[in-house]
Amino acid sequence: MPSMFTLLYILLILFSVRTTILEAAQANKSEIDRQALLCFKSGISSYPLGILDSWSDDSLNFCGWKGVTCRTKFPPRVASLNFNYARLSGKLSGCLGNLTFLSRMNLAYNNLSGTIPEELGMLPNLHTLNLAGSYLQGNIPISLGASNSLSYVYLANNTLTGGIPLSLTDCSSLSTLILSRNNLSGEIPSTLFDNSSKLAVVDLQKNSFTGLIPRFHKVTALKFLCLTENFLSGNIPPSIGNVSSLTSILLGQNKLSGLIPETIGHTTKLLELDLSFNSLSGNVPVSLYNMSSLKNFSVGSNGLVGQLPSYIGHSLPTLQSLIMGSNRLEGLIPTSLTNMSNLQMLDLSDNSLNGRVPSLGSLANLSQLVLGSNLLEAHD
Ligand SMILES: *[C@@H]1O[C@H](CO)[C@@H](O)[C@H](O)[C@H]1NC(C)=O
Ligand SMILES: *[C@@H]1O[C@H](CO)[C@@H](O)[C@H](O)[C@H]1NC(C)=O
Ligand SMILES: *[C@@H]1O[C@H](CO)[C@@H](O)[C@H](O)[C@H]1NC(C)=O
Ligand SMILES: *[C@@H]1O[C@H](CO)[C@@H](O)[C@H](O)[C@H]1NC(C)=O
Ligand SMILES: *[C@@H]1O[C@H](CO)[C@@H](O)[C@H](O)[C@H]1NC(C)=O
Ligand SMILES: *[C@@H]1O[C@H](CO)[C@@H](O)[C@H](O)[C@H]1NC(C)=O
Ligand SMILES: *[C@@H]1O[C@H](CO)[C@@H](O)[C@H](O)[C@H]1NC(C)=O
Ligand SMILES: *[C@@H]1O[C@H](CO)[C@@H](O)[C@H](O)[C@H]1NC(C)=O
Ligand SMILES: *[C@@H]1O[C@H](CO)[C@@H](O)[C@H](O)[C@H]1NC(C)=O
Ligand SMILES: *[C@@H]1O[C@H](CO)[C@@H](O)[C@H](O)[C@H]1NC(C)=O
Ligand SMILES: *[C@@H]1O[C@H](CO)[C@@H](O)[C@H](O)[C@H]1NC(C)=O
Repeated sequence: MPSMFTLLYILLILFSVRTTILEAAQANKSEIDRQALLCFKSGISSYPLGILDSWSDDSLNFCGWKGVTCRTKFPPRVASLNFNYARLSGKLSGCLGNLTFLSRMNLAYNNLSGTIPEELGMLPNLHTLNLAGSYLQGNIPISLGASNSLSYVYLANNTLTGGIPLSLTDCSSLSTLILSRNNLSGEIPSTLFDNSSKLAVVDLQKNSFTGLIPRFHKVTALKFLCLTENFLSGNIPPSIGNVSSLTSILLGQNKLSGLIPETIGHTTKLLELDLSFNSLSGNVPVSLYNMSSLKNFSVGSNGLVGQLPSYIGHSLPTLQSLIMGSNRLEGLIPTSLTNMSNLQMLDLSDNSLNGRVPSLGSLANLSQLVLGSNLLEAHD
């Protein structure tokens, strides 16, 4: 009859065999990641800094490869890839879609070409995608919008074409969308600013977007909005004034027309407002002269009329730049400007302002003063 100890010993062996099989199966999952990394490397045609030297087929410990960070839990899986300014040339492989636990991918400022693989949208844990500053072309993959985890999408400074996929507007985890300096076109999806409590940063500067600025409806976290240097037309939607979280509204260099909505003055946290180089008309609503948080105020090069309010220097006390040149403003330059003690730049040129220029000598930080092409008298 086997002793109690023998029985226990057999049980222990059985248990450890089971654990080894489990471990082998799990380690195999790690092997999927190792193979995916090697497959990614095979798409990279040059890495003059030697950054992928440690990535070799005979090295099993891929968590120690340069640029790779694994999660701490067993089995090891790739959690982040970090290669910014690494001078990688080549193409992004769809194999990256096999890195199931990848959460951060930063390949910004390289020399990557080809398209963004559709497979990236299938990564269930991807939180940050930074592919800015390469020569990526083609469309933004529709699949990205299907992600429930994607928060930060930074694809600026590439040569991407096509539009913003509609699917991306349904991505409720999205907080930052930076697509500036590409060749994107078409209309901004009408639901981009609709029903999102996470969207905080939208930068679409220097593309070829056309059509209207979509309405703002239940976007409660949006702080930075930059649509500068596109071909957007129509009115500025008054609903923008409901987005009380906004600190930057940058809509310059478009084809916007109509009146400036009075509601913009309701965004009480606003630091910078740029509506310059559009075709806006009418008076500057008085509510805008009441935004005491404002640092930069630019409505230059439009068709605006009316007068500067006499109290402007008191109601906009922290202004650093006031740019209202190339409009059709009339009347006097208010003396209260001398109270804007932070003012660095004042451009009221090319209007129909008259009277005397107040003595601006008290403005210690004023470095750019442009008042030409008005009906002003020389000051004494
Ligand atoms: C590990 O994966 C390979 C294919 O990648 C498969 O052939 C093998 O059977 C797997 N081994 C285990 C222990 O799951
Ligand atoms: C960038 O990549 C292209 C091809 O993809 C290559 O011809 C060129 O030499 C690379 N430039 C640099 C600076 O590595
Ligand atoms: C990895 O991804 C590629 C391309 O998407 C696919 O063909 C391949 O079967 C995948 N490999 C594994 C081990 O899952
Ligand atoms: C855009 O990317 C190119 C290539 O990486 C770089 O030379 C250039 O400085 C970048 N421009 C900006 C504004 O980031
Ligand atoms: C708003 O978004 C939430 C989740 O982000 C969703 O459950 C809800 O149905 C949406 N409401 C509308 C009116 O689209
Ligand atoms: C992208 O746009 C830039 C300037 O807007 C232009 O010079 C370039 O040729 C365009 N590239 C492509 C691939 O369309
Ligand atoms: C701003 O929000 C309020 C309350 O949600 C709503 O009644 C109003 O119509 C909105 N204004 C605009 C211009 O969308
Ligand atoms: C200016 O702001 C004050 C308080 O901050 C407010 O009472 C007043 O109604 C505002 N005036 C305009 C024209 O918006
Ligand atoms: C505001 O204007 C000043 C002076 O022109 C400039 O130095 C500064 O960068 C601007 N700040 C922002 C946030 O645009
Ligand atoms: C505005 O400036 C004038 C002249 O420099 C000064 O007398 C006055 O006290 C200032 N007012 C405020 C509210 O700072
Ligand atoms: C002028 O600028 C300097 C540095 O930018 C700052 O420390 C100082 O407070 C400014 N002066 C005034 C009067 O705003």
